[in-house]
Amino acid sequence: MTSANTGLIDRYGRRAVDLRVSLTDRCNLRCSYCMPPEGLPWLPKQEILTDDEVLRLITVAVTRLGVEEVRFTGGEPLLRPGIVGIVAGSAALTPRPKLSVTTNGIGLARLAVPLRDAGLDRVNVSLDTIDPERFAAIALRRRFDEVIDGLSAAAAAGLTPVKLNTVLLRGINDDEAPALLRFALAHGYELRFIEQMPLDAQHGWSREQMISAAEILASLEAEFDLSPDPAERAGAPAETWLVNGGPAKVGVIGSVTRPFCGDCDRTRLTADGQVRNCLFATGETDLRGLLRGGADDEEIAVRWREAMWGKLPGHGIDDPSFLQPDRPMSAIGG
Ligand code: 5AD
Ligand code: SF4
Repeated sequence: MTSANTGLIDRYGRRAVDLRVSLTDRCNLRCSYCMPPEGLPWLPKQEILTDDEVLRLITVAVTRLGVEEVRFTGGEPLLRPGIVGIVAGSAALTPRPKLSVTTNGIGLARLAVPLRDAGLDRVNVSLDTIDPERFAAIALRRRFDEVIDGLSAAAAAGLTPVKLNTVLLRGINDDEAPALLRFALAHGYELRFIEQMPLDAQHGWSREQMISAAEILASLEAEFDLSPDPAERAGAPAETWLVNGGPAKVGVIGSVTRPFCGDCDRTRLTADGQVRNCLFATGETDLRGLLRGGADDEEIAVRWREAMWGKLPGHGIDDPSFLQPDRPMSAIGG
């Protein structure tokens, strides 16, 4: 067998088929668990992959490395001027990957239809509160209405199921789980709560402040009847529950207290062309240098396989030697 089309396997037997591509490290919000109020030193333009370079790497991943699904992230991916073209180029590949975006929703009202027409299948929208004042307190921008409009536009364009990602913060929005679920049910969105991970630029995370999956479930169960979802979890990080007997569902991603590293099927590419084999990896593998140095597709594929082979078995947040990665969430892409 040649190495062509050999997947991204690691020494623990996992196979990465889900590629997350960060299109920019910039964002138009400043969610406290992600970015400091003043923003971050943004990547210089010349270090960011061009649209053609992004597409070249996605092509290598899909045609040589067995990647089946591509998710565009940021920072805020809708800030990337070329996103519609990048989606269209990805949709033209054979085999055609599944295509999705994780966005804060700002700009979706304008982009939902062009993105759908380019081949986008789905969106995940971050929404931590349904209160405009709280939104301004968490994200430091008064842009709640644009997010809500973006959600409606995504649903109307058929980018479904529209999924909502919520991070609960102690003393700020931790009383809002039931209200968020009511909102999601009323609009037909699929809500998932994500435990806060130590990926904030300020290094302010603490386990005591984190709202755990168990707390989230207890707060939902005060108002809703939750039963285990018979559909299989199969690599998906969210554990899902049927709400009041179904068919509506709610998900909880217990990244910290119920880690799913053993089933992880992800590989990540940063906006400046570095492969990360884990959100929490402390090292990266440079593909941009290879690409700009004139490497051919197979050389890039070989380097990417090597990067994934070294993936650690788990994130080790509970290990005393745990080190938070240098890059915050906004520069990795979630
Ligand atoms: N912990 C958990 N989730 C986070 N996100 C951003 N930062 C964190 C964090 N520290 C979420 C965002 C978005 C997705 C990319 O990840 O809310 O939905
Ligand atoms: Fe922006 Fe998302 Fe980070 Fe919030 S979590 S600051 S929306 S990148």
